[in-house]
Amino acid sequence: MATNITWHQGHVSKEERETLLGQKGLTIWFTGLSASGKSTLATALEQTLLHAKISSYRLDGDNIRFGLNKNLGFGPDDRTENIRRIAEVAKLFADSTSIALTAFISPYRADRDAARKLHQDAGIPFIEVYADAPLDVVESRDPKGLYKKAKAGEIKEFTGISAPYEEPLAAEVHIRTDQMSIEEGVQKIIEYLVANGYVD
Ligand code: PPS
Repeated sequence: MATNITWHQGHVSKEERETLLGQKGLTIWFTGLSASGKSTLATALEQTLLHAKISSYRLDGDNIRFGLNKNLGFGPDDRTENIRRIAEVAKLFADSTSIALTAFISPYRADRDAARKLHQDAGIPFIEVYADAPLDVVESRDPKGLYKKAKAGEIKEFTGISAPYEEPLAAEVHIRTDQMSIEEGVQKIIEYLVANGYVD
């Protein structure tokens, strides 16, 4: 932790920014196994929101690991640091009144809870969406061939095979991606946002 640093307050409060821009920010946090549909859902939701002229921006696991988090691997400590940084970045997007969409496996409950607390402490809504499909289904999808490699021992610490995934206990939205189409999943999230007054 750095010392001798001071928080600089802007001239525009969170509430005034929201009023000026006519939108309230929030974070929608997708979690689930690799190939569970997190990125697909987040991508489709981003498109739907943008076409409705609602500012929204997606942060995606694979993409972020090309840049901001390129120095992190998949051991427990690095995954925790990955999620900590993403929670901070999502909070900034949401604070700017955008809807931040994050699509990370985020396998540890404690890390997701820490992301939630970070938002709650800043008065920013945090909505956890569980992209849920059984392991045999995601293994059979295997779009990148990663489960095959993990089972052959070519990838170490692979979530669901040789590293844990802790299911959400009380996600705001639970989507069984093996039982619903992408469109139905997006619709379910939109219905949640409307019912809770986050979008009109
Ligand atoms: S985490 O657990 O939240 O830090 O992971 P995340 O940043 O979302 O990155 C997941 C993507 O990285 C690829 N990949 C792996 N996933 C899990 N375990 C291991 N060991 C691993 N190695 C590489 C994989 O493409 C994941 O993408 P998705 O979109 O989830 O399939």
